Amino acid sequence: MVINGDIIFTQNNDGFEIYENGFLVIEDGKVKAVQKDYSGNEEVINKQGMLIIPTFVDLHLHANQYANCGLGYDEELLTWLEKYTYSEEVKFKDLNYARDIFKEVLTKLWEAGSLRSVIFASLYKETSELMFNLVSEAGLSAYVGKVNMDRNVPDFYIETTEESINFTEDLIKEFNNNSLVKPIITPRFVPHCTIESMQGQGDLAKKYDVPVQSHMNESLAENVWVTELHPEYKTSTDVFEKYGLFGGNSKTIMAHCIHNTKHELELMKKRNFYPVHCPESNANLTSGIMDVKGMLEAGLPVCLGSDISGGHNLFMPKQIILAIQLSKMKARMEDDLSKVLTLSEAFYMATKAGGSFFGNTGSLEEGYSGDFLVIDTDSIMAPHEVRSPIERLEKFLYIGSPSNIVERYLQGAKIDKPFKE
Ligand code: GUN
Ligand code: FE
Repeated sequence: MVINGDIIFTQNNDGFEIYENGFLVIEDGKVKAVQKDYSGNEEVINKQGMLIIPTFVDLHLHANQYANCGLGYDEELLTWLEKYTYSEEVKFKDLNYARDIFKEVLTKLWEAGSLRSVIFASLYKETSELMFNLVSEAGLSAYVGKVNMDRNVPDFYIETTEESINFTEDLIKEFNNNSLVKPIITPRFVPHCTIESMQGQGDLAKKYDVPVQSHMNESLAENVWVTELHPEYKTSTDVFEKYGLFGGNSKTIMAHCIHNTKHELELMKKRNFYPVHCPESNANLTSGIMDVKGMLEAGLPVCLGSDISGGHNLFMPKQIILAIQLSKMKARMEDDLSKVLTLSEAFYMATKAGGSFFGNTGSLEEGYSGDFLVIDTDSIMAPHEVRSPIERLEKFLYIGSPSNIVERYLQGAKIDKPFKE
């Protein structure tokens, strides 16, 4: 397959690779070449005047909070969880309710061009199993986590330690050999998992070589709580590390990582560790502003997540732009302009950085998975406005919407809108 258009991607985060009116050659689902001319025999798909960019990767979202998007942001994290979140998530015991919402979430991810994502599905085993199957049915790629919580949650929404461990193991056994939809071990965060549960989850991560995702250092109140629960360890990093949930053998995603100590940053650097910046969620819940630039300079692969429904938007360009804007606020307030994130840095976070969690995805370099979007920016141009490819990408990221995405490809195959009746 050969596609002709304005191809843009980030090989590194310090600038864009731009092939104006270039040719993307895909073979066996992978990028074979990106080139200025094409003289081979394949039929060329003409997308001249359109942008061709990697698909977005959303490294952190809660599918069972979708109905709460836009609600409750006068609260901070811990009271928001209590007042809004559990009462919604408990509804996912009902598989029919879960199916309707999950289909909607996956359709919105498809629309937004996030063909790969890492999902907190549900506390319940059958509901989580449903999510694995729906992601497959939609033709998307994801890591899906059954959320584990066996302490400090309401009586109506809790499970036993045995349930956390056994159900997690059941789902690993069922789905670990899949290629596009895979399991991820999901302790919700330190305050919601007993040490027995964390130990069991860490053992599973090691036994099956399965990655881990959780939250940490999101809010100051959360960190005080962790210190009270574990005075011997003090930080979530030390607790997760103790129980094998901090990027030991397996890759680890931690959402937020705002209020980190120096010691924690040192350990992150030594591990197979993916910090996820969730700018909209952090703004909504008054959590703080991650020092993205500092973490990038430390060599950490900072990625981006929508964190719905802490965030309220699945369209990753919203997160890209807010990440930049928050970094500018932080830079100005700290009188340190080196903290400003550039467009290419933020785009890289939402494509190649997050994509690296899945292997060679999120870029259009040779050998990368043929995951790309075709974007028509005509509707966001002013009359008589003529722009270069990079300017059109910039405008798409700032003022575009999912409706500008006209085609979506995963591993070189066009993915149509899922779940059409
Ligand atoms: N920490 C523990 N649970 C959650 C959650 O559901 N959302 C966010 N943003 N942080 C959390
Ligand atoms: Fe979250």
